[in-house]
Amino acid sequence: MTGHSERLARLAQGWDEAAKGYEAYYVPRFAPWVDAAVRAITARPLPDGPVLVPCCGTLPELDALSEHLPDREIIGIDLSRGMVRRARERATRYPRVSVVEGDASTPAAHGLGRSAAVVSVFGLQQLPEPDMAIQAWARNLRPTGRLSVLFWPRSIEADGPFARLSEVVRRHEPSSGDSSWEDRLVPSLAALGTVIERDEQLSFPMSHPDAATFFDAHTRSGPLRPLADQRGDAFVSRLRAEFLRESPAGEWHHRPSARHIVARG
Ligand SMILES: C[S@@+](CC[C@H](N)C(=O)[O-])C[C@H]1O[C@@H](n2cnc3c(N)ncnc32)[C@H](O)[C@@H]1O
Repeated sequence: MTGHSERLARLAQGWDEAAKGYEAYYVPRFAPWVDAAVRAITARPLPDGPVLVPCCGTLPELDALSEHLPDREIIGIDLSRGMVRRARERATRYPRVSVVEGDASTPAAHGLGRSAAVVSVFGLQQLPEPDMAIQAWARNLRPTGRLSVLFWPRSIEADGPFARLSEVVRRHEPSSGDSSWEDRLVPSLAALGTVIERDEQLSFPMSHPDAATFFDAHTRSGPLRPLADQRGDAFVSRLRAEFLRESPAGEWHHRPSARHIVARG
């Protein structure tokens, strides 16, 4: 296995193990962002063709997509078999929805052809080369097709559980912080002639019962699961102790801010 495919395999396995808890803990908390991302492609008429949902996870985008675009073919793509299985369960009632297991960085490799729209929520920041991936997604659009990509940027909040946990992780994993790709997203799209319609920050309130519940959800059922699996229990216990030492007691309310890019092919 090459370094690249090893990294993907580790990520897929982490998300397989996270899938059940992710659906329970994060899907309800992320719902306002999912809704906003879908609304950005359904607000105006779309050209013919499928709607592509790269990094679909359990496919929480489906409810809003099927409500606004009931007859549209929808194709989810996710790396994780566990996520794909849950997404397919969610889609059983919808004959025009399919879910592909694979790397969403290069959707053309899945033979998906040209799309009416691409909508992706909280997947881009996990890809090895997000600026290349967003370009590949935009290349998949038909003329006048729409792209709506929401992701966690380098600066999510000044203070709050996401910021504090990133800070603790960075102390142990300094290389985890390269976010220079963010500055290349808009130029990558512009180079294709894609028209940027919106580039905005979207923040909504979120709550956690307490710091420990948040930490356990994030490391067992969220984006830190692949790292937790790789580094093992002793590492996670050290992180947990550090994080809890620096966290407030009781319910934790915050207002994380995601970046949303909406563009037209
Ligand atoms: C935070 S979840 C987001 C899922 C869903 N879009 C949502 O809003 O709840 C991120 C997903 O990205 C997937 N992912 C990460 N890297 C990927 C890749 N290279 N190709 C496809 N999916 C990937 C993970 O398996 C995971 O399901």
